Amino acid sequence: MIYYFSGTGNSLYVARHLADALGERLCPMTLPAPTNDEVIGLVFPVYGWGIPNVVEQFARNMRFESCYLYAVMTCGDDMGYADEVLEKALGRKLDAAFSVLMPDVYVCLPGFDVDSKEECKEKFAQEEFSVKEIAACIKERKQVRKLKRGPFPWTKTYVIRPLFNRYLVTDKYFRVDASKCISCGRCQKMCPVGNILIVDEVPQWQKHCSGCLACYHACPHHAINFGKMTQKKGQYNLMKQLHE
Ligand SMILES: Cc1cc2nc3c(=O)[nH]c(=O)nc-3n(C[C@H](O)[C@H](O)[C@H](O)COP(=O)(O)O)c2cc1C
Repeated sequence: MIYYFSGTGNSLYVARHLADALGERLCPMTLPAPTNDEVIGLVFPVYGWGIPNVVEQFARNMRFESCYLYAVMTCGDDMGYADEVLEKALGRKLDAAFSVLMPDVYVCLPGFDVDSKEECKEKFAQEEFSVKEIAACIKERKQVRKLKRGPFPWTKTYVIRPLFNRYLVTDKYFRVDASKCISCGRCQKMCPVGNILIVDEVPQWQKHCSGCLACYHACPHHAINFGKMTQKKGQYNLMKQLHE
């Protein structure tokens, strides 16, 4: 079984390819954790050189017999020691861990924006090779790590990440531009953790945000912003295509 979490679609895209290559089934991490599968895969995005709160919760609740356990982490650039953060939540070592470069969706800090069309194209081309390689490793039950940790990985994961989680993984800065919002409800539909309610035709966030930015990226009129930081940033929504 492959369990996945995905905000904007990249990790679901990779999880589907991997499931096809391995003949495995897919299950969202929002359902109860597994018990006794022989091989378990976890596919999810890297957030702040660590793991999303949803994945951490899922990993903490996992009750597994001895199984071959691997993780595939999608990231826009580099993943620091996200594999170690996952292992801490799991309470065990991973047998194999991989990172896959996918289009960057982080836009909430200065200097961060979505990738250009060319960059996206290159990453999608590379993804195909990466998934083939990962599938081959998993079929052979290899003990392996193929990870792009990037520069200063320890500082990013163990110094910056706690601050990132504390101050930036929150829904309290989301604002809706009433002149642009058409009350289509797409933000609510796209939120993978059911954190948005539409009240009087306006989205309201319910304070259990995963930080995935699906609401921001899915809005067809760029009516949702994270403070003022994202007003001039791009949008990216692969999830919409995956559901069509
Ligand atoms: C809150 C947040 C934090 C992120 N942090 C990182 C990071 O530390 N390193 C990185 O390379 N990409 C980072 N990204 C980019 C995502 O990992 C990447 O775009 C991923 O493929 C998105 O997956 P998804 O479409 O399945 O949600 C971040 C994205 C978000 C929304």
